[in-house]
Amino acid sequence: PRKIIIDTDPGQDDAAAIMLALGSPDELDVLGITAVAGNVPVALTSRNVRVVCELCGRRDVKVFAGADRPLVRQLVTAEHVHGKTGLDGPVVDEPTMPLQPQHAVDFIIETLLAEEPGTVTLCTLGALTNIALALNKAPEIAPRVRELVMMGGGFFEGGNITPAAEFNIYVDPDAAEIVFKSGIPIVMMPLDVTHRVLTTKARVERIRAIGSPAAVAMAEMLEFFERFDVEKYGSDGGPLHDPTVIAHLLRPDLFKGRDCNVEIETKSDLTVGMTVVDWWQVTGRKHNAKVMREIDDQGFFDLLTERLARL
Ligand code: BDR
Ligand code: CA
Repeated sequence: PRKIIIDTDPGQDDAAAIMLALGSPDELDVLGITAVAGNVPVALTSRNVRVVCELCGRRDVKVFAGADRPLVRQLVTAEHVHGKTGLDGPVVDEPTMPLQPQHAVDFIIETLLAEEPGTVTLCTLGALTNIALALNKAPEIAPRVRELVMMGGGFFEGGNITPAAEFNIYVDPDAAEIVFKSGIPIVMMPLDVTHRVLTTKARVERIRAIGSPAAVAMAEMLEFFERFDVEKYGSDGGPLHDPTVIAHLLRPDLFKGRDCNVEIETKSDLTVGMTVVDWWQVTGRKHNAKVMREIDDQGFFDLLTERLARL
């Protein structure tokens, strides 16, 4: 199986991504899960990762806490979407599995230096703070990363936290800039893709019908999570952003995109956190990311449901 580290800020959609990965042991070996501040502060995201692992019966997964704030800016959170805990919806037990004593950034560095070069994939579901800190501290890790698959950014679709910026990039644009300039091969799942995968009633009921503790909790999380978009935009469900990252590792054929240059706006007050995607190749700038634009949304939900049923 492919070795991955998941860096995350759960978040109900992050939880779905973690479950999709843990439900796919034939394809994916989760070396560790690192928590970062984002949707809620890191004390909660590192708790929430463990809640999800315990729901999956996987107390053995190594969970690390990372950065509690962006590189240079104040932390912006998203309780208005995810609720006070970040994982509102189901009633869950407080986790009892341990948090590893090592800092997430040191775990990322140590793992990339210990494993064969080109074998570890980074899956990022939140702000890129932990990855940027690791690159700053140990630049020699960059060429050892097989690929970094991220949920972040938006181009034709616009932003979801400001008109120009998607939340994960907006929280720490300085970190995103470091990652996009690092030379690591990047696959980017922007809002253009994730706004196509909606948690419709029928899809949530299919998940609930699996009947396991993980699946029932997931259905309750999705019901909570979707209320924001359903109430505000009258949409058919919430956009299930983060599991698209894991789905890409399992079924790249579900996606279409192209290699582009992507630059991050870090200076303008109006557009800070914007991902400037050169989709039409109007500059000569070097390609640094494969930017996805289309997804087979039903294929994606079939995959997610099938893998949740394996937990
Ligand atoms: C991203 O922001 C977070 O709130 C979600 O978990 C997702 O990673 C979507 O913009
Ligand atoms: Ca997230």
